[in-house]
Amino acid sequence: MTSPEHLDLPPLIGAAGRVRLPGSKSISNRLLLLAALAEGSTRIDGLLDSDDTRVMLDALRTLGVALQRGDDGSCTVHGCGGALPVRRADLFLGNAGTALRPLTAALALAGGDWQVRGVPRMHERPIGDLVDALRGIGCAIDYLGNAGYPPLAIGRGAPRLDAPLRVRGDVSSQFLSALLLALPLLGSDRDVAIDVVGELISRPYVALTLRLLERFGVHVRNAHWQRFVIPAGSRYRTPGRIAVEGDASSASYFLAAGVLGAGNGAAVRVEGVDAHSIQGDVAFARVLEQLGADIDWGDGWIEARGLRAGVAALAGGDIDCVAIPDAAMTLAITALFAAAPTRLLGIGSWRVKETDRIAAMATELAKLGATVDAGDDWLRVHPLAAADWRSASVATYDDHRMAMCFSLASFGPVDIRIEDPGCVAKTFPGYFDAFARIARPVPVIAIDGPTASGKGTLAARVAAALGFHALDSGALYRACALLALRRGIALDDAGALAALAATLPLRCDGARLLLSGEDVGAAIRAEDVGQAASRLAALPAVRTALLALQRQQRRAPGLVADGRDMGTVVFPDAGLKVFLAAGVRARAERRYKQLISQGISTTLDAVLNDLEQRDARDTQRSVAALRPAPDALHLDNSELDVEQTVLRVLQWWRQCAAR
Ligand code: DC
Repeated sequence: MTSPEHLDLPPLIGAAGRVRLPGSKSISNRLLLLAALAEGSTRIDGLLDSDDTRVMLDALRTLGVALQRGDDGSCTVHGCGGALPVRRADLFLGNAGTALRPLTAALALAGGDWQVRGVPRMHERPIGDLVDALRGIGCAIDYLGNAGYPPLAIGRGAPRLDAPLRVRGDVSSQFLSALLLALPLLGSDRDVAIDVVGELISRPYVALTLRLLERFGVHVRNAHWQRFVIPAGSRYRTPGRIAVEGDASSASYFLAAGVLGAGNGAAVRVEGVDAHSIQGDVAFARVLEQLGADIDWGDGWIEARGLRAGVAALAGGDIDCVAIPDAAMTLAITALFAAAPTRLLGIGSWRVKETDRIAAMATELAKLGATVDAGDDWLRVHPLAAADWRSASVATYDDHRMAMCFSLASFGPVDIRIEDPGCVAKTFPGYFDAFARIARPVPVIAIDGPTASGKGTLAARVAAALGFHALDSGALYRACALLALRRGIALDDAGALAALAATLPLRCDGARLLLSGEDVGAAIRAEDVGQAASRLAALPAVRTALLALQRQQRRAPGLVADGRDMGTVVFPDAGLKVFLAAGVRARAERRYKQLISQGISTTLDAVLNDLEQRDARDTQRSVAALRPAPDALHLDNSELDVEQTVLRVLQWWRQCAAR
């Protein structure tokens, strides 16, 4: 299946619902390796199914480890008791740091003839500190490309454990975790010590490693995060069966959505993590609480209920993110909605993740209109006032967390386009579906129908009754036609008309339509403008050019949009779609009376003839032809007056809202 190039997210008005989290990536890949190295078989329940875990599973299979996937999401791993069946292989590990680092350590200690490599970005992510530590005890590792980076060739060394290993802890805690996971393989008859050089970052991830080692029978002594001692005779033994917690980093997006969009009794609940989680990123929910969020904790779940009573917006200020490097990215987006600037501190490790996340975050936030300052290991994000938001197409840098974080920008008052949304498959293939299930987009009522069916009046009346905004999409085509006529552009010059539409100096200001600042509300109603609009609306490039302008009108608390393709093309997710029809004669009579009352002299036959021509053009054009959406409700108002028509639509809307 190919993934779409981009995903358009409508602005949201709220969030509510429950999400069962996929398994934790960090736990899944650690458990797979531990189970593979252990004596005995291990059944892992709730294993994450994503690109990064598939990379680990494939690598283990290549190394000769027997694995069985259950239909229920479980995986049974038949451990090799520390003796890998295959001694020579070339492993491709994608961009999965949680696979490449620990496998490098395990293979170096096992000895053999190996190569490990990944995608080009993986070859830019440093691994020198781990290689130095392993070389320091006699492992044989060579760089196949640039010194300090994968790909690597790993040979048969002669590991000696007579002195403590030394590893830096201030770039990535994954190097220490890799050593902790791999060293028990040696089955040393003396204690093995690892000394951490420099301040250890991301400690919760090391704590996670230690907890999982314990489940496999290895109890490491932690001396103040500076020295770790693996006791003599440590060997991995299977716990038999073990369950993977829900991913706490993935939880951050939904909890943030709950804070930004829940309230008034609505809540977003994530299932699969709770206060007892062994993942450091659950602390993200504590940070939200400190910032003013209303968070509730239960057995197996955490729930975000908006802001605490009396709190108007999340607080800003300095936030130490050393312990929550991944979930901290989510704070960079919630900061847009905070009361004051937010500075994220201790995020130097962002620079060496799937992309340089500090640079990526600063660039993409700026596209939304935000003011952002960045340093080596910090990022400051200023709140963004409603009027300053810009609709943007957000690049995701092949970084799953960039894509997931920026979905939260749809709580701003603009459309957000996420480029390459498929990159979330690294850790959460179903992310956007899960997000759509809890997201409450700004509601839209789409009213489509032929010329003079009364859509415009109906839309305006329904909008007024509900306090919604109204979009008369025909007016945009008319404004474009007006400008074309004024500039003398021929109505068969498709190229010139498309160029005109793409740069149309048009702005909707409440009920007013401003063309280069001039209110053209009356001028666009002229018959020749209507005729011209009908011709130019048949051009695909013109329609595409006007799409963004139409979607930008979707604003809280809701929108009633009328036209020809509101339900089929512009707002296919509209909560209510009405297809308004009336016989051509009934419509001609209405239009005739209207024109006569405006002092315009015409005949009923002329009006009828004109309507028939327009109907033909609207229904027969190759793009966005006038046709009911499959899920539209049909309303023939030939025999109804305006009042009755409005009441019918409001009734339908109430039924939709109650569902
Ligand atoms: O609804 P109206 O008469 O103001 O629309 C003017 C023209 O614009 C009409 O001939 C069809 C076209 N139009 C369209 O193609 N798609 C829309 N959504 C709205 C109008």
